[in-house]
Formats: sequence, structure tokens, C-alpha cells
Amino acid sequence: MSVEKLNLLNKKKEIIELGGGQKRIDKQHKSGKLTSRERIQLLFDENTFVELDAFVTHRCTNFEMEKKEAPGEGVVCGYGKVQGRLVYAYAQDFTVLGGSLGEMHAKKITKVMDLAIKMGAPVVGFNDSGGARIQEAVDALAGYGSIFYRNTIASGVVPQISAIMGPCAGGAVYSPALTDFVYMVDKTSQMFITGPQVIKTVTGEEVTAEELGGASTHNTTSGVAHFIASEDKDCISQIRRLLSFLPSNNSEKTPLIENQDSPNKVLDLLNSIIPDESNKSYDIKDIIYEIIDNRDFYEVQQFFAQNIVIGFARINGESVGIIANQPNIMAGSLDINASDKAARFIRTCDAFNIPILSLVDVPGFLPGTGQEYGGIIRHGAKMLYAYSEATVPKITLIVRKAYGGSYLAMCSKDLGADIVLAWPTAEVAVMGPQGAANIIFKKDIKNADNPDSVRAEKIKEYTDEFATPYKAAERGYIDDVIEPSLTRIRLADALDMLASKRESRPFKKHGNIPL
Ligand code: HXC
Repeated sequence: MSVEKLNLLNKKKEIIELGGGQKRIDKQHKSGKLTSRERIQLLFDENTFVELDAFVTHRCTNFEMEKKEAPGEGVVCGYGKVQGRLVYAYAQDFTVLGGSLGEMHAKKITKVMDLAIKMGAPVVGFNDSGGARIQEAVDALAGYGSIFYRNTIASGVVPQISAIMGPCAGGAVYSPALTDFVYMVDKTSQMFITGPQVIKTVTGEEVTAEELGGASTHNTTSGVAHFIASEDKDCISQIRRLLSFLPSNNSEKTPLIENQDSPNKVLDLLNSIIPDESNKSYDIKDIIYEIIDNRDFYEVQQFFAQNIVIGFARINGESVGIIANQPNIMAGSLDINASDKAARFIRTCDAFNIPILSLVDVPGFLPGTGQEYGGIIRHGAKMLYAYSEATVPKITLIVRKAYGGSYLAMCSKDLGADIVLAWPTAEVAVMGPQGAANIIFKKDIKNADNPDSVRAEKIKEYTDEFATPYKAAERGYIDDVIEPSLTRIRLADALDMLASKRESRPFKKHGNIPL
């Protein structure tokens, strides 16, 4: 081969690697963002990234686009290894035409998505784009459509992770929204359907882009994002951590990660962690940290609907998804947002063969017109549906309250829990002792000479008799009442016993989860 040919190849690659040029790269860095290539390098294990379609470019001729260079077509695509496992990725390059998405840009993305589906490997997308490439008109819209379609086809087949690391506006937001996990970088990323200017024109509201669709908004208020990162590097290292808890696809299990934390630990602290007073709050995460390996809990949607805690951990090296009521927030009651948050997470775990551990301390569904008008009936139903539908190992541990419908909604035996354990502090009942005594002993209290003392007596009677785990255990709804200090040992044992679980469902095209 002649030297010229080699030189030509190298020259072309040099131009492509420089994207929109040094000036725009400097601008990207100045705004606190890494470039698409830097992001890709940080995601993959050293020297494992292989780029695809570097030479692809647009073929638009509208608005003199034929004169515009678009090195790499504004998106870097390819595959590599993360912790030794195959992962596909694409990273939009804001330095090239603002990372805008046209026909060929979309084709590059859908190519890696198709490969990921065929090969059974996760897809990570770094979003940093001005949206549909305006010059390409309907071809750009078609490009988005082809990505949404694949996001949907890949859903539940391979894990899909989106990182928002710059603008993501208009219909472009729907690709991340269709994926399993959305990361946002604080202060440098925004997601919205219509921006501040359009909102001002249409509704008169004034709002900044950050208030409207910044990382904080979507992590606390809307629940659109699952994770917030302080900067690009933090975001990418979090994505690597998340991938360690996930399998490569829906027909594999997450690889065991051996660790030095013995599953046979007796945890005396747990014997005194539940306050004596039934109405006193405590932090459920104090229990979670004790029972998992190395206190390593990766919380999902940490700042949204904090009355329920969800996240990934390991027990005896096995990846588990934890769903836990949080007595510290709204007494751990279930509301619309908590139901949506939990139901989605249960389905994510089930789709990817991750056993589910539910920690129960729930007083009920949150009362009020706000909840009823907002449709708590259909939102709460999602939890019942998601738990019932799930065929992964399901372990439920009742630590304190488990009342009424919310007891069922936290994966009771009848919703298919394989193992239900309870602490002696568990209160499994239709409702709390106060409410129950007021209803069933109404007449005794009303006719008593001293109603208050009779009420107190009846509450105590009900508490002693019914606000315990034993009535449920006598009927087999609870498999065992255990000393709290033995919880980690019993959970590790249950996971081991359930490792070979096989459960099939009647054929259906797909279920019809209430939305
Ligand atoms: C073509 C675009 C572009 C776009 C940005 N650029 N967005 N080119 N189509 N959508 C180009 C700019 O012309 C500029 O090119 C370069 O990218 C960088 O843009 P700047 O404006 O200089 O950067 P900045 O000041 O940081 O502002 C970024 C921005 C702004 C906020 C994203 O560019 C912007 O508002 N863009 C338009 C956003 C938009 O309305 N998109 C369409 C949304 S509708 P040069 O050559 O000067 O460097 C949509 C529908 C999808 O996406 C529907 C799917 C179903």
C-alpha cells in the first residue's frame, strides 16, 4: 500500500477525531462539559472502545448543507467493555452542528442499538444535542422515530441507560424517557418538552431553563431522572457502578461479585433498631445498610418520593433490588409518586432477573382529595400489578406496620412472595389499633362511664391480640418470625434457596398494567 493511502486515512481520522474543531472543544470544556470522545473513554475499560461509522456524514442539501462539514455526523458510536462485559454506547458531539440529530446521525445510533439487541448487551447513550437538525426537517423527525421504536423493542431485553449531559429538548426527551435509567448532570443538563420562551408565549409563566428542566427539578419534582451527578466524570463513574448491578440482558443473571462480607453475621444492633413507640419514626436505610454486603447501597431516585426507598445492593455477592417504606417521610405511607416509583423499579428488576427484597413498615395509602383526584387507585394498582406479575425471587420482610391494602401492595404472600419473614415488632392488621378499636368497640366506648379509659383498654386489647405478626404466622401468611439480629443470615439463605426459581405465566400478548 502506498504511503499516500495511509496518510489519507490518518488525515481523515484526525479530522473526525477533532469533531467541530479546537475552538468548539475549548467552549465545551469552558462550559464544564467533557467532549463526546472523553466521555466514551471514561465509560469503557482502558483501550477497549471500538468506534463504528466514524466516516458517516449527512447527505442533506437543504439550506446549503452540502457545504457544511459534519465530522462523525455529530455522534460517536461503538462498543467496548465495562468491567470486562460488552456494552454499546453513543455520545452526541455538541461541537458538531450542536449535536443536532439528522437522518444519518440517527442511523448511527440505531445501528448500535440493533447490535446491542442482537448481542444482548446494554446500551448507554450520552445526550448533548440541540435536538432535531432543523435543516433536515422531516428526515430528522423520522430519525427520532426510529430511535424511539428501538428503545421500545429493546425495553426489557437489554438495559438502556441515558445520560443527559447538555441540552435535551422537545421530542428528543422521549428517547431517554423510554430507557430504564436517566442520569442528569447538575447545572449543565436540561430536559423539557417546551422551553422557557415557548412557555412564556403560551401561558405567560416565567421560568428559567434550570428551574424548568434542570437536574434538580427532574430528580426531586418530576421523577423523570433517576440519578443526579455533580459533573460528567461523576456521572460516568456512577453509570459503571449501575452496570455492575445489572445483567447484560434479560436471559442472564447479574454475575456474582464475591466479597469479604460474611453472610453469616449476627447483627445485634437490629434487635433494638425499631422504636418502642409504634408511631416513632426511624431511618429504614439504617436497616438496609446493616443487612447488605459492605453497606454498598446504590439508591435509585433518591430525592423523589422519599417515602419509599428503592435501590440496588448485594447479599452474599448476589445483586438484589430493594423496595422499602421510609417511616421518616410521611410515616412511610404510599402515595401516587411512591407507587409509580416502586412499580417501575419492581418491573425493572423483574425484567432483568434481579431478586426483589421488600422491607415493610407501611401504615397505609396516603388519605386526601389530592391523592384520590390524582388517581391513587390506578397508581397504587401498579404496585399490586408489578409485584404479582414479577417471577423473580420475591422476599418480603415485615419489620413493623403492615396495614390493610398497603400490606398487600408491599408484596404479601398472596401476591406471590416466595418467602415472607417478620420481626417480632411486626403489626400485620387491617388497620392500626387506634382506628380499629374506635370502630369495633364503638358501642362499648360510647356507653362506658369513662370512655377514655375504656378506649385505651380496648386499644391495648387489640394491640396485644392483633398488632403482632403471630395471627398472620398462624395462618401461614408469614413463613417465620425471626430475631432481627439473624436477618442477614436468613435473607442470604432465602436467596440461595430461591436461586433455581422457575415460574411461568399463561401466554398473553402483553399484560395491561394500569397507567
Ligand atoms: C441545527 C443546530 C441546532 C439544531 C444547534 N445548532 N441546534 N443546528 N439544528 N436543532 C447549531 C447552531 O446553529 C450552532 O452552529 C451550534 O449548533 C451550537 O449552537 P449554539 O446556539 O451556538 O449553542 P448554545 O448557545 O450553547 O445554545 C444551544 C441551544 C441552541 C440552546 C441548544 O442552539 C438552541 O436553542 N438550538 C435549537 C433548539 C431547538 O429548537 N431544536 C429543535 C427542537 S425540536 P454553529 O455552526 O454556529 O456552531 C425537536 C423535535 C424533536 O427536537 C421531535 C422528535 C419527535
